[in-house]
Amino acid sequence: MKIFEANISHQVSDFLNDNLKRITSFEKANQKMYDTFGIIHFFDNNAELETIKEILAITHNVVEEPDRAEYGDFQTNSDLANKVTLHLLSKEISPKIVIEPTCGKGNFIIASLRNFKHIKNIFGIEIYKPYVWETKFNIIDFFLDNPKANKPEISITHCNVFDFDFKQMAQKYSTKDFLVIGNPPWVTNSKLGSLNSTNLPKKTNFKNHSGLDAMTGKGNFDIAEFITLTMIETFQNMNGHLLLLVKNSVIKNIVFDQNKNRYKIAFIEKQCINSKKEFNVSVEAALLYCKLNSNPTFDCKVFDFYDNKTSYLKFGWLSDKFVSNIDTYIHTKEIDGKCPFVWRQGLKHDCSTVMELDKVNGHYVNGLNEEIKLEDGLVYGILKSSDLKNTVISQTRKFTIVTQKKVGQETKYIKSEYPKIYKYLTSHQSSFDARKSSIYNNKPLFSIFGIGDYSFKPFKVAISGLYKTFHFTLILPQDNKPVMLDDTCYLIGFDKIEFAVYSLILLNSDTTVQFLQSVTFADAKRTFTKDVLMRIDLLELAKQISKADLQRELKMLNEKYKLNLKLNLWDNFINAMTPVSNGQIAMFA
Ligand SMILES: C[S@@+](CC[C@H](N)C(=O)[O-])C[C@H]1O[C@@H](n2cnc3c(N)ncnc32)[C@H](O)[C@@H]1O
Repeated sequence: MKIFEANISHQVSDFLNDNLKRITSFEKANQKMYDTFGIIHFFDNNAELETIKEILAITHNVVEEPDRAEYGDFQTNSDLANKVTLHLLSKEISPKIVIEPTCGKGNFIIASLRNFKHIKNIFGIEIYKPYVWETKFNIIDFFLDNPKANKPEISITHCNVFDFDFKQMAQKYSTKDFLVIGNPPWVTNSKLGSLNSTNLPKKTNFKNHSGLDAMTGKGNFDIAEFITLTMIETFQNMNGHLLLLVKNSVIKNIVFDQNKNRYKIAFIEKQCINSKKEFNVSVEAALLYCKLNSNPTFDCKVFDFYDNKTSYLKFGWLSDKFVSNIDTYIHTKEIDGKCPFVWRQGLKHDCSTVMELDKVNGHYVNGLNEEIKLEDGLVYGILKSSDLKNTVISQTRKFTIVTQKKVGQETKYIKSEYPKIYKYLTSHQSSFDARKSSIYNNKPLFSIFGIGDYSFKPFKVAISGLYKTFHFTLILPQDNKPVMLDDTCYLIGFDKIEFAVYSLILLNSDTTVQFLQSVTFADAKRTFTKDVLMRIDLLELAKQISKADLQRELKMLNEKYKLNLKLNLWDNFINAMTPVSNGQIAMFA
């Protein structure tokens, strides 16, 4: 059964029916609810009281749930909420004041009532009126089942969390033990932008974006992150704790920004939960826990919430470095520096149906299944992330048309020098015009990005940015032409095969794998980015590796891929990476 679009149990509706039917003023009804359950302001006015009395007479009241995407609505099930409060209890946490900033149907409030015996006040805030009712009904249900339970004063406010005055509350109850608990909305500002929603803080400079910027999708941030930071900022000087269920990315950002924010929080923990099981969604989420009013700390221990004995990982700041595994990072930190060669992202065209080609019986076939004849001059083999499985690659499945040698280069030459390619590209002009990204605006026809001298280097070492494989691949020329990579991959290019192979050996060494595992985050959209790859100090790695190891690896590559290479250019390789006195690299590969 539903009242005010909120679920209500039979027990609660019977109770309300029995106790309210003879009460005619909402003030008297509120007094009754306060005396019995401690809930203040149960009804806002007489109209609400009269409506509920009328509706209680009706046995079935089916209302369709509206679309609540903009409210990031994933209600915590009562079993999980209960386990979370028991977990806090096991840490001997027993708050006097409980705050649930976006309380939904109130499962964390009920779990708190059930397990914390010394609560004096509970504050729940919720934007959706039916949930405000449902929380109140659930509280009544709880007390009807547990008449002897401790009855704190409970305030459930129908309000936008961004309008609620938490600072005043922090001042009023400053001497009490606080617990901020809950599960703030799972929604990002760009999702809100796409829904045309205004469920955002109005005036904020959060992450240097105003509420308006957020609406227009400039920069992406999670609303839960904003709410969590507001809670930490407001209550950091209070005695107590915070526990909020948020996406893993929010926890990572909060620990990352802690270096700058230096909030008074310590013993930061990430308790991983199974979101598929708890919420039936495939989003990595966890409980963020910390102690308030402490000397600031800058790392976070990671636990499995269901098997909580020991932390299996610690991430965060180690002096000025932010790393994903502090313990393993310590063993490889010598190679955390600057790569002497510049890592580049691969080629981007955003026009795969036209630009991505297969070769069938000497013809090219595009994504529209059109068979086309093109001059070979501008056609190059191209590899995608999914192709980078082997250690050495010299053949590609796909081909692409490389219209420019560097970004912004004029493309008029194609008409005279490559008439078939020109005819083909112009016949698909509309596909190029339909490219959404503004980077193509006011650029020469058929422009591409991620192209430069480095793209035409014959030997490359590459890795997929998307896959968590920690494995680098050597790419050899195909039919005497350099092979391209798409923009999901990162590469360094070399003129000499020896330099590429020496780099490959260093990059696939155990030290590099361990280093990369210590600085990359499994839940990041891209495991590897240019920034991460630029941290690998190849020169330091080259100094650490023993000649015996080098010989062994080279022998293996020679045998497996028939390369026939020696270490005779090793000293040149070291020289090429060593900065000369003016800080530049001696020579480029
Ligand atoms: C992820 S749900 C969790 C609800 C509850 N905390 C729980 O753990 O079950 C997020 C809740 O935030 C509410 N909400 C979304 N935007 C809000 C806002 N601006 N102010 C207050 N509540 C909001 C939603 O209606 C929803 O009930």
